[in-house]
Formats: sequence, C-alpha cells, structure tokens
Amino acid sequence: MKVIVPANNKGGVGKTKLSIILAEYFSTYLRKRVLAIDFDPQCNFSSRFLHMEIDPASIAGKLPPIHPDYSTTDQNTSWLEGGRSSIADIFYGQPIIPYPTHIGTLDIAPAHAEKLLVAEAVRRSEVVEKVYRQIGILLESQDVTESYDIVIIDTAPSKGPLTISAIKAATHMIIPSVMEEQPIQGVYGMMQLWMQESLNRPKGKPLDLIGILPNMFRKTRLHTDMLDSLKRNPEMANFVIPLTLGQRTAYAEVDAEGAAPKTVFDLPEADQARKETLAVCEYISERIFTNE
Ligand SMILES: Nc1ncnc2c1ncn2[C@@H]1O[C@H](COP(=O)(O)OP(=O)(O)OP(=O)(O)O)[C@@H](O)[C@H]1O
Ligand SMILES: [Mg+2]
Repeated sequence: MKVIVPANNKGGVGKTKLSIILAEYFSTYLRKRVLAIDFDPQCNFSSRFLHMEIDPASIAGKLPPIHPDYSTTDQNTSWLEGGRSSIADIFYGQPIIPYPTHIGTLDIAPAHAEKLLVAEAVRRSEVVEKVYRQIGILLESQDVTESYDIVIIDTAPSKGPLTISAIKAATHMIIPSVMEEQPIQGVYGMMQLWMQESLNRPKGKPLDLIGILPNMFRKTRLHTDMLDSLKRNPEMANFVIPLTLGQRTAYAEVDAEGAAPKTVFDLPEADQARKETLAVCEYISERIFTNE
C-alpha cells in the first residue's frame, strides 16, 4: 500500500488541490482503491467529497456528517458522537469508519476541526506516543492494508505534530509550491523534514520524495526566475519535477458547488488544464509504481 503526502507549511500552495486531483485520478483512471485522509482542521479535502457540517461546539469548526451506515437503533458502541467518524478518532482510541464517496473506489476519513486541533496541541513530551504513532498503527492494520491500494493524506499549512506524523507514515512525499519567495522558504523547510525523516527510517521503509511541484505557475519573470534558480541549486535540482500546473481558472470552476464538469478530468481532451493535470498524475503514478 502506498501512502502519499503532499506537504508544505506555507498556505495556499495547492496541497489540497493536489490531494483531490490524485484521489480522483487514482480512483477513476487507474481503478485503484483509494483512501483519502484529511489531516487539516480546515477540512477542505473532506468538503470536496462530503457535506461537512458546522460544529456547534466550536467557532468556525466543521465536523463530518452522520455516517450513511449509522442507524439510531444501532447498539454498536464503536459509533461515537451520534454516528460521526473522523480521522481524529485515532487520537481517542476509537476505530475509523471511512465514508463512501460518489466515486466507488474512493473512501474518505474526514477531518474534525476541533479534535484535530486538540491533537495538534499535545504536549511535546507526549507527542510521540499520542500523535506520531497513531496514524502508522491505523495504516498498518489489516483492515486498511487489505482494503486500499493507495492512501492520500492532505496536511495543514504547518510543521506541527499532525504533518510530521503524516510524513512518518508516508511512503511518498511531494512538495507543491508556488514559485514565490514565501512558499519556496516552505520548500526548504520541507526538504529538511524529509532528510531528517529519511535518516530515521529503517532500511526497508524509505520515504521517497517524488519532488517539488511548481503550481499556479505563470510565465512571469518572477515565476520563471524562481524556478530557474531552484533548478540551478545543486541541492534542489534533482528534486524539481519537470512539469508544472499552471494558474488556471478551470481549477476554481470545478470546485464551485454544483459545478459541471465536477473535475478537470471531465473537461474536453484538448483542454490545457486537463492535459497538464493528467501529465502530472501520470508522472507521479510512474514514480510510485515503478520498481515495485
Ligand atoms: N493551479 C491552480 N490554478 C488555479 N487555482 C488553483 C490552482 N491550484 C490551487 N488553486 C486554488 O488556490 C487555492 C489554494 O489551493 P489549495 O487549497 O489547494 O492550497 P493548500 O496548500 O491546500 O492551502 P492550505 O495551506 O490553506 O491548506 C484554492 O482555492 C485552489 O482551488
Ligand atoms: Mg489545504
């Protein structure tokens, strides 16, 4: 089972967009069984596939809807909070019950804003036991390894315990970035995290860095210069993915509620956004499934 984690602690660089694209690509194009996991209290990845609800207990927080398999007459005590299941339940010793989505081969373990924020705030001395280990335990469970081929974990714009635990559980990491100063700082930070984690990995369990993906790329002086300087940097050059995702309105359009088409993959074949997205997905897929 492959575990892909897009990470960059700078916000708005396309982590969620990439998570969505990959989840849709692997499940619909390659017919892989995909588990999407949302580790970001903002709940954006979850909202793509589920109708998330406002949490009355927290300001601006969201929580998952009632699970479709839950029934009020169900005596099964593994259901918490009136039939809602979120990935944050791993931090509370509870089982995870993924939600089906409109795509048959794609399930999601959604975020729960409040509970994820609690896990993110765990004391340093307890973080290894209470946070780091939990996602690994879930992903190594027989239930999960037998049910899914690919897991995609969307992360928050932070280098906190949740992002670190996702990276610790990953087989593959990818760093999306806008080619601008602040996000590039994030890229350097993520490269450092990757190196540290790689040093700690046992031999048979490497963390493969797929690379740095330039997103929202425009052929402006700023973007081309930034990309060129990354490619000239000997420490970075080998990690820059030789493709880009442009700044395209199509991405925003398919995100709108009730949008048709619902994904870039449903756009006409000649559409640039679709072509670019497919090229990036195929590149990533090849990296993941070669040398099997
Ligand atoms: N290539 C693109 N072209 C146009 N819009 C894009 C592109 N990539 C992402 N976006 C849009 O930019 C916004 C930020 O992207 P996204 O939410 O994926 O970033 P993020 O890194 O997950 O942000 P955060 O750190 O807040 O979680 C979103 O509205 C998304 O739809
Ligand atoms: Mg996001």
